[in-house]
Amino acid sequence: TGEDECVGNVKVQLAKLFEASLKVTVPNEPDVEPLVAACTGKFGDYQCNNAMGLWSKIKGKGTQFRGPPAVGEAIKNNLPTSEMIESCSVAGPGFVNVVLSKNWMAKSIQKMLIEGIDTWAPMPPVKRAVVDFSSPNIAKEMHVGHLRSTIIGDTLARMLEFSKVEVLRRNHVGDWGTQFGMLIEFLFEKFPNFEDANETAIGDLQAFYKASKQRFDADPAFKEKAQQAVVRLQGGEDKYRRAWAQICEISRNEFHKVYQRLGVHLEEKGESFYNPYIPEVIEALTKQGLVEESQGARVIFIEGVNIPLIVVKSDGGFNYASTDLAALWYRLNEEKADWIIYVTDVGQQQHFDMVFKAAKRAGWLPHGDGSYPKTSHVGFGLVLGEDGKRFRTRNTEVVRLVDLLDEAKSRSKAALIERGKGEEWTEEEIESTAEAVGYGAVKYADLKNNRLTNYTFNFDQMLNDKGNTAVYLLYAHARICSIIRRSGKDIEELKNKGTVVLGHKDERDLGLHLLQFAEVVEEACTNLLPNVLCDYLYNLSEIFSKFYSNPECKVIGSDMETGRLLLCEATAVVMRKCFNLLGITPIYKI
Ligand code: ARG
Repeated sequence: TGEDECVGNVKVQLAKLFEASLKVTVPNEPDVEPLVAACTGKFGDYQCNNAMGLWSKIKGKGTQFRGPPAVGEAIKNNLPTSEMIESCSVAGPGFVNVVLSKNWMAKSIQKMLIEGIDTWAPMPPVKRAVVDFSSPNIAKEMHVGHLRSTIIGDTLARMLEFSKVEVLRRNHVGDWGTQFGMLIEFLFEKFPNFEDANETAIGDLQAFYKASKQRFDADPAFKEKAQQAVVRLQGGEDKYRRAWAQICEISRNEFHKVYQRLGVHLEEKGESFYNPYIPEVIEALTKQGLVEESQGARVIFIEGVNIPLIVVKSDGGFNYASTDLAALWYRLNEEKADWIIYVTDVGQQQHFDMVFKAAKRAGWLPHGDGSYPKTSHVGFGLVLGEDGKRFRTRNTEVVRLVDLLDEAKSRSKAALIERGKGEEWTEEEIESTAEAVGYGAVKYADLKNNRLTNYTFNFDQMLNDKGNTAVYLLYAHARICSIIRRSGKDIEELKNKGTVVLGHKDERDLGLHLLQFAEVVEEACTNLLPNVLCDYLYNLSEIFSKFYSNPECKVIGSDMETGRLLLCEATAVVMRKCFNLLGITPIYKI
């Protein structure tokens, strides 16, 4: 808790008040952290849960209190007065329930409307973060796993950027390794003037990879040449370097198409980039006594893990782990990142666990969990098909991401035409809405699940306009925008001239949920869990519709029109920020 704290974060503001109360209530226990949480019951909006834990700490020490409820009572009585709080009560074994002041809530929402949603952004103690995501492998497939990494990583990067963290969005592409020998040799065979080879000539790089692999397996002479090619490439021989660069470039163009569709920005620093750093990093680790010989390889033993981390293979070559150690070293020392986040499938969890532990042994990273710089592995589960198996399309082994996005778009376009938009809207409007909805649906279907679980890819489900889908949410937002438009009022003017009022229960419920945006984003960002934000967004839309469909909360034409229009606008602003953080383009009419 420092000076620069998010003022929009209700939980944090309340925790400060309780902190002050605890200091007075139990002066001999200075290190008690206030435990404040949103209430689930109907006794209040937030509660402080310190009494019971405190009681067990102090009961043996001759305290004046007679049990947890008395501790709770004292915590309540010692709370500094604050305009935030309307009333407090103690329940059960000392829970202190807080009812927020309606006026304060209304004022806070109005303030956000005037000063902007950025005032509700989290403020993590991080200056610069690396988010290592997407990271497909050159010439191999860019599969749905990479799509997940791309979508999840982009959202995490957006949440951090919103929190004013400088984010280095890194595409750690697999652009180095023994497969290049085979690819280069095959390129020379197919294209004597290999520099003429481009996307159109090669066509599908995946097919090219397969064909070269077949050749490699079938012909010992080719295999021999391919192995030599690796050596010549690594030795830096010009022709081999150029052929390698050519293959990478073709792959890069393919990846780029997917990123462009998804609106995801990434900066490539592939495995090859860290290659020159590997020898010195391994050398330093060896000097520290971390690297040992084991069965011809050089390895680092990690406490609690039964296999060692191989850092130099028995043939003297480097591997995935050597590269990741060098990359981590570079990110810490050259890029001076204080949070480094890796987004890959859960299958790589052990790999990262070992790399991080090796880095701790080497003293690159501090040992405590809450200290910086820190590293996090963001694992995710599989994408499954309808059959419950790994997602594949009928005829091909892997799903081409571009095809998938095409289908999402064309299906949502068809839905728009069916709704009669073909006559109403321009071709351009149809196209851009179909993209926003289609791509948004693919992203949201992924992000709404806890990332660690597998999820089933289903177009019908994700494009349904009912239920917890992007389509439903995007339409809900568009409807709110149309309410505001229909009112004929200048909302910018109302923000300053009108007042938010939370008189009705449904208005207050909506207001409370809006105010919880700040703490939810902070939780999503701290725990790297986009689904927390999705749940929030879906609930917001449900709570809004309860408010809007209640005849007692009529908006247009009622005496309370101004206040309610401002609530509509605040809902739209928060929804848009959620969409923005999830990488989804909002739509404004439907
Ligand atoms: N290229 C890897 C894969 O496709 C992912 C790389 C993740 N990042 C890293 N620093 N190892 O599985």
